[in-house]
Amino acid sequence: MTILITAGPTREAIDPVRYLSNRSSGKMGYALAEAAAERGHRVILISGPTMLAVPDGIDYVPVETADDMYRAVGKWIGDCEIAIFAAAVADYRMAEVAGQKIKKKGETLTLELVRTPDILASARKDFSYQGLLVGFAAETENLENNARGKLERKGCDLVVANDVSRRDIGFNSSENEVLLVFPDRSELLPMASKEHLGHVLVERIVAMAKPSCSSCSSC
Ligand code: C5P
Repeated sequence: MTILITAGPTREAIDPVRYLSNRSSGKMGYALAEAAAERGHRVILISGPTMLAVPDGIDYVPVETADDMYRAVGKWIGDCEIAIFAAAVADYRMAEVAGQKIKKKGETLTLELVRTPDILASARKDFSYQGLLVGFAAETENLENNARGKLERKGCDLVVANDVSRRDIGFNSSENEVLLVFPDRSELLPMASKEHLGHVLVERIVAMAKPSCSSCSSC
């Protein structure tokens, strides 16, 4: 199958030397990409800036901003039977990026920010994507309810939810414990390394996609 994966943070410029971003390491998305490639799938990895090595045998599309990621997803998603959105996309960017380095003047500085596109929600709406759609939800409270809200609002078949208020899992950690939220039920997977979880998730997601996949020879 052909699998699109978004990973890593996005980086939104403030001026030529500063940016807005977040603590995402990209490890979960890269672990998914590696697991999928090892299992013989074609992987298109659309990634914001990370410190990670690009896994062998994948099509790597580096991006910087949420707008770049939106355009790259729009370009590639039509080729894919599965799309997994593991990127931590910045929700806001500068209304206007300053052309020169912003100088310190007063005691406070107000930046005007505007919303970035919700790329996962755009999959069905803007790109008319019909394949299997998987989102991630990083939450600090009401994990299951918030993840289920995302599943419904963004047209997902599965949301992989994790509690980022815990220091031992999630953002920037090598381990993760996730709750799988499906339209009709939820299932907690035991804590595991992101590498192991990558394999477990790819296996489960590919099995979900198989009944509707008629266009590839690898399944
Ligand atoms: O709404 P929230 O950001 O919590 O949703 C998380 C999910 O949506 C993740 O799968 C993330 O990759 C995706 N997302 C996106 N574009 C955004 C914000 C989130 O694709 N602008």
